[in-house]
Parts: sequence; structure tokens; C-alpha cells
Amino acid sequence: MKNNSLYNDVLRTLFSKEEIADAIKVMAQKIVDDYADKKPVMVCILKGASLFFTDLIRQIDLPITIDFMAISSYGSSTETSGNVRILKDLDMDVKDQDVIVVEDIIDSGLTLSYIKEALKSRGVKSIKIATLLDKPSRRKVELSADYFGFEVPNEFVVGYGLDYDEKYRNVPEICVLKPSVYNKQ
Ligand code: IMP
Ligand code: MG
Repeated sequence: MKNNSLYNDVLRTLFSKEEIADAIKVMAQKIVDDYADKKPVMVCILKGASLFFTDLIRQIDLPITIDFMAISSYGSSTETSGNVRILKDLDMDVKDQDVIVVEDIIDSGLTLSYIKEALKSRGVKSIKIATLLDKPSRRKVELSADYFGFEVPNEFVVGYGLDYDEKYRNVPEICVLKPSVYNKQ
């Protein structure tokens, strides 16, 4: 392996490109069935969900619109603090809209419960959550996804949009990061 290969820091691969693509197809079909007569606004939570979002929306043959939101949460390097702040807000007015929030992973649930409340207060008609990954064992608030791809164990994962310290987002698979990478800091 090259000296600077990202895979030097990978413990093991959890989900391959093919498994991810298959899971997205299944989720997309469910969304198409549930929103058959609707025009949902699909909201990508930057940056982690960006790869998942672009693959997911290409499989949805409905008159959707898209928008983006960026959130920051201060905390330790591998944990959310709950101090959530909107860094980039939606361009669209979502009042009376059917919104689907697309996220990379639900861990404590703090980020998404904040986003959900923020969007509800704007008068959305409905709001659902689509997440590629779910770590239910780590939940601090009650929150569940309406659509999810995979459940993951209590390990820190990277790739397919997910980062550690802004790295590894471009790894095409979902991988467990070697704990030595974040423990040495
Ligand atoms: P929550 O607010 O604790 O649910 O955290 C959600 C956010 O934390 C996600 O959008 C991710 O950015 C980040 N996160 C949580 N777990 C992981 C992980 O295993 N790998 C990479 N990012 C993670
Ligand atoms: Mg994120």
C-alpha cells in the first residue's frame, strides 16, 4: 500500500460500494412509494451526507426539489456535544412543504432532533428522516429514522462522506477507523 493511502488508517470495511448502492436503491423505492403524489423537498445535511444524497436523489423519480443545510456541533473529536448551530441555512421557504432530511449517520440523535425542531417551527407540512447509517446504541434523545440503510456497531466509521477531522470522506466504502488514529490526539 502507498505510504499516504487512506486505507492505512482503516481497521476493516463494513459496507462495500455494491452494498451501499443496493441499500440506497431499496430506500429510494420506499420514498418513491410513500411520496407518489407529493413533491418533497429533500434536504442534504452538509458535508457528511453529500455523497449519499447525490446517489439517493438520482434514484428518485419524483418532482423533488433539493436544498442544503450545514450544522456545527462542538464536542470532542468523535462525539457531538449537543450545542448545535446552523452554519448554512436553507435557501427555500419550507412552510407547508413535505420535507425529507437526508443525513449520513444518527449517533446521539442530538443533531437531527435540533434540525427537526427547527424545521417544524417553520411550519412544514411533514418531516421525515432518511439516514444511511444508524447507531441506535448511542442515542441520548429519542429519535428514529423513517428510512435507513444500515445499523452500525458502536465504532467510529468513515468513508462515503463521513469524516474524521475532515479526512476520509472520499473513501468509497464505509470503514471502521483504527482507534489509534483518534486516540493519539
Ligand atoms: P449526533 O448528533 O450525535 O447524532 O451526531 C450526528 C453527527 O455526528 C453526524 O452527522 C456525523 O457528522 C457525526 N458522527 C457521528 N458518528 C460518526 C461516525 O462514526 N463517523 C463519522 N461521523 C460521525
Ligand atoms: Mg456530519
